[in-house]
Amino acid sequence: MKPLYVTKTFLPPFEEYCELLRQIWDTHLVTNDGPFYQEFEKKLKEYTKLGHLACVGNGTLALQIALHALEIVGKDVITTPFTHVSTSNCLIWERCHPVYADIDPGTLNIDPVQIEAKITPRTAAILAVHVYGNPCDVDAIADIAARHRLKVVYDGAHAFGVLCKGRSIFGYGDLSMTSFNATKGLHTVEGGALFAKDAETIRQVRKLAYFGMDERKQIVQQWGMNAKMIEFCAALGIINLRYLPASIQRRKALYERYLSLLAQNEKVRFQKLTGDINYSYMPVIFESRECKRHVLKELAKDSIYPREYFYPSLEAVFSDRIECEVASDIADRILCLPMSDYLSMEDVERVCANVNETCGKCEGVHTAHGL
Ligand SMILES: Cc1ncc(COP(=O)(O)O)c(C=O)c1O
Repeated sequence: MKPLYVTKTFLPPFEEYCELLRQIWDTHLVTNDGPFYQEFEKKLKEYTKLGHLACVGNGTLALQIALHALEIVGKDVITTPFTHVSTSNCLIWERCHPVYADIDPGTLNIDPVQIEAKITPRTAAILAVHVYGNPCDVDAIADIAARHRLKVVYDGAHAFGVLCKGRSIFGYGDLSMTSFNATKGLHTVEGGALFAKDAETIRQVRKLAYFGMDERKQIVQQWGMNAKMIEFCAALGIINLRYLPASIQRRKALYERYLSLLAQNEKVRFQKLTGDINYSYMPVIFESRECKRHVLKELAKDSIYPREYFYPSLEAVFSDRIECEVASDIADRILCLPMSDYLSMEDVERVCANVNETCGKCEGVHTAHGL
């Protein structure tokens, strides 16, 4: 049987990329804010309708730079334990103290009520994640931040192309970042971007990402690092962006097919969407951890390899106590099923037939937070 992985990296027609590679060979401009870097940023501005952004080498660097640009380094930051480890890694790398607030069991995003409960005089910022591209409660978070004078950083690694209340999700917070790594809906193999409300913040981001040098990249003005996006990545981003609208529509149809084929399965439920998403993930929450384990085993027998995004809850890794029970419970029971530009409707049917049959054999047990 053809193996089905959680995702398969989208690659455009080879010739299209070769055309841009030819230009790189002609100019010998391979990095340092080259023409493709500048064009990619221009195209991203047009696509998102946001005016202040900068591309960087990857999403992890984008998060680290955000912490420096907003002067949050070394401080207490309220964040979610239900995310890719990079969200917490960046805090720890930058000597911040992650304070975990629990998630909403429906949306799987950080719960604003839980954020408020965790605020102390030491809290400097909120680092929230649009999990699987599902928009956070941006109004409630903005309200809490304003009342407590906190900075807000959004980890939008999963959220390229997502709109929230009619505008790009990256228009919210003091800084928003995204990732363009090879598993993302829009990718540059490795890459990332930061979005700000004003030009000054982006000027600072650029300095931090370019050795702390001035705008002409000549004179060292401050501390910085090397977080450049290279021309090879920017060129691929330019091409992949052309394919994105069709890709989102295709994945949406696959997502809806999954929902309809799993609709009668009483042992599963889905993320509650708060708005538009980009359909890059197919998360399914099982009735119990045992049921999830059973499904993983049976799918593997059929060469189907979902991923335990996200397991474990990061509190179990980076904290000495578990206070976020919803996140732990969901992390135990969730799987992301295969989703990619190359998945066919027949593939979705094959996955769902296996999941439904396996769930039918699972004992009913659980559960603390509803299904
Ligand atoms: C939620 C989240 N944040 C941050 C990152 C880090 O992005 P990158 O892999 O581009 O460093 C990821 C990566 O996959 C992610 O899923």
